[in-house]
Amino acid sequence: MSILVTGGAGYIGSHTVVELLNRDENIVIVDNFVNSKPEVLEKIKKITGKDFKFYEVDILDEKKLNNVFEENDIESVIHFAGLKAVGESVEKPIEYYYNNVTGTLVLLKLMRKYNCKKIVFSSSATVYGDPGTPKYIEEFGRGKTTNPYGSTKSIIEQILEDLYASDNSWNIAILRYFNPIGAHKSGLIGEEPQGIPNNLMPFIMKVANKELDHLNVFGNDYEGTKDGTGARDYLHVVDLAIGHIKALEKLNREKSGVFIYNLGTGTAYTVLEIIETFKRVNNVDVPYKIAPRRSGDLAIYYADPTKAKKELGWVCERGIEEMCRDSWNFIKSDK
Ligand code: NAD
Ligand code: UFG
Repeated sequence: MSILVTGGAGYIGSHTVVELLNRDENIVIVDNFVNSKPEVLEKIKKITGKDFKFYEVDILDEKKLNNVFEENDIESVIHFAGLKAVGESVEKPIEYYYNNVTGTLVLLKLMRKYNCKKIVFSSSATVYGDPGTPKYIEEFGRGKTTNPYGSTKSIIEQILEDLYASDNSWNIAILRYFNPIGAHKSGLIGEEPQGIPNNLMPFIMKVANKELDHLNVFGNDYEGTKDGTGARDYLHVVDLAIGHIKALEKLNREKSGVFIYNLGTGTAYTVLEIIETFKRVNNVDVPYKIAPRRSGDLAIYYADPTKAKKELGWVCERGIEEMCRDSWNFIKSDK
């Protein structure tokens, strides 16, 4: 029996595959490399010394994805495959809804066909919208999303709940990630965005590496944060990967249900705190300028991770210094 990992060559997927292989699980990866590279698969093998099956398949291609189910005894699915750039989703809503929502529907149809009803889904804190308070609790439910990317996550959550309502033998974990950063200790896998990055940590790394001359800090007049810059709940990608293992273990203990968890540390750090920590632990310079606020950004939010701790036995073990160190190690290492 195998675990199918869609998007397993991507940033979070690759780290999760490493953790699964370290636990001797049988893995099948499906990825179309729209936002990753084939070399990642070799890096995963190098880190773990283990092998796995891989299919270069777009999850929208029902025939080819059917073949993956036909050739393997898939017991559960961890579903990472999706497009994730917020700004791009505003420019290309059709592509985002098609890839993320239709892709998930194709996957779910095949799971039903092969009577494989256990799925862990990558959702996002963005589905909360703006609940008006910084500490997000699962029971808030979904709010109004502010961009097509966030809407795809919200819609897929709804689809999964509707699916369970129609057939309560489904066993579903919805994981709402906060802000994953960092990289594997080996320096072999990490986040490698193409072109100019949107997110804070990839941007800091390009500036530290002198590929870009400075970072724009989007706003320093936010209320409710330590220094006026935006604050987020950053978590180490390896902790996040382990969260998926724990979620799968939970599903293996349960007969069926829909289980929703925040995956975050419960602490928010400001942009300036991240810059200062990155500079200090890595002994590099990160020039920055204060710039206007970025449209759509909230001042501060962070997870209430109590439910994941109680029900999954999951807590983050890696702190902000380790996150900054491992991110930089990935960029500097001789891959
Ligand atoms: P990523 O882009 O590194 O990984 C996604 C992988 O899916 C890539 O390897 C890509 O090639 C693949 N993919 C995309 N569409 C596909 C398709 N149609 N068929 C086959 N493969 C496809 O992103 P990530 O940061 O690893 O994120 C993984 C998941 O977690 C995504 O669904 C993302 O939306 C979600 N998420 C990410 C964050 C974050 O900050 N990184 C936060 C919340 C949620
Ligand atoms: N920031 C800057 N300068 C930059 C980039 C970011 O100051 O160049 C600031 C932002 O204003 C924000 C913080 O750094 O205060 C974090 O920004 P990111 O873009 O790294 O992350 P976001 O919190 O905006 O978004 C992330 C994911 C989304 C997801 C969202 C869920 O990128 O996919 O969390 O809450 F939807």
